[in-house]
Amino acid sequence: MTSMTVLGNVAAGLPEKDATWWRQAVVYQIYPRSFADSNGDGIGDLPGITAKVPYLRELGVDAVWLSPFYPSALADGGYDVDDYRDVDPRIGTLAQFDEMRAALHAAGIRVVVDIVPNHTSNRHVWFQEALASPPGSRARERYVFRRGLGEHGELPPSDWTSTFGGPAWHPVGDGDWYLHLFAPEQPDLNWADDEVREEFLTTLRFWADRGVDGFRIDVAHALAKDMAEPLPSQADLDADIWGGAHPLQDRDEVHDIYREWRRVFDEYDPPRTAVAEAWVPAHRRSRYASPEGLGQAFNFDLLEASWDAATFASIIDKNLALARESGASSTWVLSNHDVVRHATRYGLPDGTDLVAWLRSDGTDPLPDEERGRRRARAATLLTLALPGSAYLYQGEELGLPEVADLPADVLQDPTFFRSGGEQKGRDGCRVPLPWASHGPTLGFGEDRAHLPVPASFERFAVDRQEADTESTLAFYRRALAARRHLQTSETLEWLKNVPATVVAFVRPGGWASITNFGTTSVPMPAGEVVVSSAPLDGDRVPAETTVWLRLADAPVD
Ligand code: GLC
Ligand code: CA
Repeated sequence: MTSMTVLGNVAAGLPEKDATWWRQAVVYQIYPRSFADSNGDGIGDLPGITAKVPYLRELGVDAVWLSPFYPSALADGGYDVDDYRDVDPRIGTLAQFDEMRAALHAAGIRVVVDIVPNHTSNRHVWFQEALASPPGSRARERYVFRRGLGEHGELPPSDWTSTFGGPAWHPVGDGDWYLHLFAPEQPDLNWADDEVREEFLTTLRFWADRGVDGFRIDVAHALAKDMAEPLPSQADLDADIWGGAHPLQDRDEVHDIYREWRRVFDEYDPPRTAVAEAWVPAHRRSRYASPEGLGQAFNFDLLEASWDAATFASIIDKNLALARESGASSTWVLSNHDVVRHATRYGLPDGTDLVAWLRSDGTDPLPDEERGRRRARAATLLTLALPGSAYLYQGEELGLPEVADLPADVLQDPTFFRSGGEQKGRDGCRVPLPWASHGPTLGFGEDRAHLPVPASFERFAVDRQEADTESTLAFYRRALAARRHLQTSETLEWLKNVPATVVAFVRPGGWASITNFGTTSVPMPAGEVVVSSAPLDGDRVPAETTVWLRLADAPVD
């Protein structure tokens, strides 16, 4: 209870009781093990985050979302959770979590933590108990165990494959198999089980009581499963049967779970928030984002889009309409810990197969780094101008590229191992941040880092960028500071009669965002420039550049 009392008055830096803070927040994703290492063991940690609160404040973000920092054997970068209500001792302690949270709040920054409800790790007490218990036992009901086929159960219950490659069933040696949609170290929970449901309500309250403001819900679309026999084949699953009919994905019953969670969120003042990671078709997303459910859902459409004005414009239009439908605000994401960084994506020819490109160690084709970064800055400034919340991924404010040439012996991603090396995986976007332009880990820690920091990161180091007003970091700071003043109601109006290579709109208050996706400059409307993603030259918007303008001739709101 003491923590509750302490928490009651820590919010000095936060606008108290603002229940809508999330609607247009800039949320900065921290991948804790790669952010900042305070004790030189090569692993980023919570005190490392606390030490960087001034940096986050100066950057101007409204919230941080922390990828999992719970005890974990790291079979999947921490998304294999041993204990949902503790901190990995390599990353810190609960007391250090409280310190970090208090420091962030004092700086006016909210805290969002990652909840991984689809699966535990295989080291979780429940799973250990299930393994030690016989087939048909209560302990096995919390997971998805099935009898194997064949005389002695020696064959998997179905031919399903897991997301990271290989079969989705793992035998436990007594004729039973368990389901893992991801790695074998990530057994799927049985969400039809009441104890499972209760346990997660306890976990949500545990973190909410500790002052956490919101939750990011991992694989939110997969919790409810229809395991009725006979199990369908993988070919049946692959058939496009979205819309509630797929046995494993996006089932309508999943929302019963989130309605229960919402009641817990609403026990708090302000209510705790949540954002769903739900890889579902756009028209199904509103269900996750509904105010009776999680309240917001990630929109990954731009993260998957190529550099093209018409594509961006139609994605924006569609998602703003979806947000109006759900009552949520829209979300915008260009990078996260699962995808090739956008500064690199935009430097590759349109349509490049990123898996094949990673397999070539990033050499075939060679990305045009300068162009990639130029476009990345323009795309970021465009998304920051949109109504809704923007999710930034650590390091994008430095313009970091993907590290595509990590040697096989340092790779950690289960995708790499489970695909037999066919897919290199996601480590290249999880390389530790360069804080300083000197030292063996460029200021991340001391002499080692759990993934090597390449010498080429020196030119992206924070200390360098802080000394350069044209740097990507300086640009992000300007953009976020401007956004803080400009962001008003969640609407926009498209500017008419613009060239086909341009995405341009006006926001309430009479400011406009104009992005030139083309390779030659375009005319700029009359107005006062607030911020631009690249230096301007006269009164035109240069190629591959975004400009924010206070219009001289603003339409009346
Ligand atoms: C989500 C996470 C990803 C993880 C997976 C399994 O997609 O973002 O990193 O591997 O879930 O938990
Ligand atoms: Ca450390």
